[in-house]
Amino acid sequence: MSEDAEQPETVRTRPWRGRTVSLTPIEPDDAELVQHWRADPVAAHEIGIWPGSLHELRERIERWTDDRSRDDFLVLLPDGTPAGHVALFDEDIADGTAAAYLLLAPEHRGRGHAVDALAALTDLAFGELPMQRVEAVTHTDNDAALAVLAAAGFVQEGVRRSACLHRGRRYDSALLSLLREEWEAQTRPRSWEHV
Ligand SMILES: CC(C)(COP(=O)(O)OP(=O)(O)OC[C@H]1O[C@@H](n2cnc3c(N)ncnc32)[C@H](O)[C@@H]1OP(=O)(O)O)[C@@H](O)C(=O)NCCC(=O)NCCS
Repeated sequence: MSEDAEQPETVRTRPWRGRTVSLTPIEPDDAELVQHWRADPVAAHEIGIWPGSLHELRERIERWTDDRSRDDFLVLLPDGTPAGHVALFDEDIADGTAAAYLLLAPEHRGRGHAVDALAALTDLAFGELPMQRVEAVTHTDNDAALAVLAAAGFVQEGVRRSACLHRGRRYDSALLSLLREEWEAQTRPRSWEHV
């Protein structure tokens, strides 16, 4: 038996739940997985990721874990399979504002996991943290992200023209937000009601 085979598999805690998925805090050892997801051409295009070393990403995740202005999570499927990365970042407790980040592995897209994970993330922002507003920015032609954000209750506020550059072309970005009162009006079960 190899040394690796003798190691017990690490069991991730699931401190925050969605309807189907759950969220577990991201760790520096997740860097390789996150690097793999970020290399997906759709993610690289939509989020604006350019190639970087695994070492640099690991150091960045180490900084995230110390950073009080962000909360990063792996999205776990019911069997524990990591399926993506979601985060609240730019958390400003004084103004009650934060931004949402969302990335699912290509093989786990199209099954409702993103809406579930984003709903859980907004439950954290408004039910546990004192946020008044969570915003999200995405390319105006990112139909998947716009559909997910709309399904989670986000409202489009406007368009930031020529906001980013990718492969020599400039793209417009849509700015969306979910306010506390809109989250309060949602009738779906909250994260803490899922067992
Ligand atoms: C955006 C992203 C997280 C969506 O994940 P997903 O698993 O496909 O989303 P879901 O399965 O939860 O889809 C939810 C809704 O979006 C719709 N949708 C998904 N892909 C779509 C597409 N390409 N065009 C139109 N609608 C789409 C689904 O039909 C579903 O709507 P419905 O409930 O009315 O049927 C995923 O595509 C991704 O990781 N993309 C790369 C990174 C990115 O763009 N991040 C967003 C930056 S804010």
